[in-house]
Amino acid sequence: MSRAVETIALALPHTGGWDFSDYPYGLEPLTLPQPGEPYAARGSVEQSDTQEICRRLQAAAHAGFEIPEPPVGHTMERLFWFRWITGHQVSFIIWRLLADALARLPSASGSERAALSTAITEFVRGYCGMLLYTGSSDRAVYNGVIRPSMYRLHSTFSGTWALDYPPVRSLFRGRKTPAVVESEVEALTREVRLSNQIHFGVASKLVTGGRSLLQRSITERDTAQPRMWGEVFDCYFLTQRGVVSAPEMSAQLLRRQKALAIDLRSNGLYPVPADGEIPRELRRPEVTACEEDLAASLFRIARLAVGLPATDRPRTVAR
Ligand code: HEM
Repeated sequence: MSRAVETIALALPHTGGWDFSDYPYGLEPLTLPQPGEPYAARGSVEQSDTQEICRRLQAAAHAGFEIPEPPVGHTMERLFWFRWITGHQVSFIIWRLLADALARLPSASGSERAALSTAITEFVRGYCGMLLYTGSSDRAVYNGVIRPSMYRLHSTFSGTWALDYPPVRSLFRGRKTPAVVESEVEALTREVRLSNQIHFGVASKLVTGGRSLLQRSITERDTAQPRMWGEVFDCYFLTQRGVVSAPEMSAQLLRRQKALAIDLRSNGLYPVPADGEIPRELRRPEVTACEEDLAASLFRIARLAVGLPATDRPRTVAR
């Protein structure tokens, strides 16, 4: 890893104005461990610092995010491109956090198992939000810019190539509920179902025939992929594999989470009206609730990532 990546892309964000990339809605490379590989024991960031910054960012958000809005002048194309790439990067981090929690679950008991169980539900919830955020583009930008860019890299570019997805695939396909505590099974099942519903909804919103395309592919496709495809996928989403510590991964999440929070505050989740029909899957009340919960959900994920409880208060399950 080059020194520049280490000093900028892995550094903690400050709590002032926009500090992601070189300009508002620019991009940054993400460095993740290979799936299944352990984190480095030490890195350039300490866990206690990630916790402090997380708390401070949350306080700034509660106070109304007293952060100067990024200068106007950006185009919807740049904004949605930022969301497509950065939203995917955040999803990769969530999948990794989820995979870590799932791997720890079988040997956990008592309060650790309970905490892991609620964290798993939160991660799935966070991914639901990221599907909405990443897919918030209108059809014009998706079909004019985003889709052709994937096609240009590979004519069969596919979400199934994501390297961090296989460890969590069976959870999202609803094949087997992990050994979470009994009281969490219903909430987790609900969030998994919601994630599939949103994926269908976003595919159908952005691509004519997207819903049936997705349905057909999921029933037909086997999931083993040649490794090179995973690397093409990583390259497209500016993701490199390297040895990073857990706090360095959290720092990269916090950098993005802050940028997303500013974006959502400045532009809202849907900055332009839909240029097509809103699919039935996205018109359901649980999707609206997820849209409204997006910024808060990201904070809960960030807190869990840095080793804090998801909220300061005891959890209320009603949603
Ligand atoms: C919004 C961000 C999106 C994310 C994070 C995402 C993620 C994924 C992932 C992880 C898979 C693999 C599922 C598995 O192996 O079980 C997948 C598959 C798929 N996705 Fe998405 N997706 C997104 C948007 C879309 C959109 C807009 C479409 C439009 C049609 C789409 C169509 C598909 C299809 C057809 C597959 C099946 C795999 C294939 O054969 O290519 N997705 N997606």
